[in-house]
Amino acid sequence: SYYTKAKFLMSAPDIRHLKQDEGIEVAFAGRSNAGKSSALNTLTRQKNLARTSKTPGRTQLINIFELDENRRLVDLPGYGFAQVPLEMKKKWQASLGEYLQKRKSLRGLVVMMDIRHPFKDLDQDLIFWAVDAGLPVLALLTKADKLKSGKRKEALMFAKTAALAFNGDVTVQTFSSLNKIGVGEAEAVLNNWFDL
Ligand code: GTP
Ligand code: MG
Repeated sequence: SYYTKAKFLMSAPDIRHLKQDEGIEVAFAGRSNAGKSSALNTLTRQKNLARTSKTPGRTQLINIFELDENRRLVDLPGYGFAQVPLEMKKKWQASLGEYLQKRKSLRGLVVMMDIRHPFKDLDQDLIFWAVDAGLPVLALLTKADKLKSGKRKEALMFAKTAALAFNGDVTVQTFSSLNKIGVGEAEAVLNNWFDL
């Protein structure tokens, strides 16, 4: 797929350190440990492109990966991790909010949520913000391998119903980096955003 071409471009603590704001960017956001970095590796078929960890809070910078000179994937720091010192948490949340609000090249937002605990308050805040900003959202219910097929379908149905409340362009899909569930479907949405 097109995404296998992804190369690490740069890391930045905030948007002032990001270079161009041109072309198209698709960002991956979600709670710490939701599986954002793993999903980027799955999508790009690269084991260690984005750094993953059992310890929540691994991704502390905005990490940019380049597909071509006009298209980029962005791994954002996770939110909602209680064990992080308050000062650091404030800094990350500020840089995350700033990126989401000011980045002109941002074309769509992937919101990753553990299929067992979707739509927590911070997830909802983020999705409402994206809808307000006119951005399409792909809500991925991650670690779908943790549920058996019946429960997985039930969780998907429930989440699709919940997503209607946002009253915007919010697509919900199941996803698993472990079992490669939903990878093709997620790619189809991204292809659309990237004009591929
Ligand atoms: P932060 O960078 O801390 O915000 O976390 P993240 O959202 O990038 O999560 P990451 O990809 O580092 O994954 C967190 C943990 O979840 C790791 O131990 C992964 O191995 C595990 N994980 C990620 N995706 C899956 C999945 O699809 N299935 C299962 N079972 N585990 C997963
Ligand atoms: Mg990460």
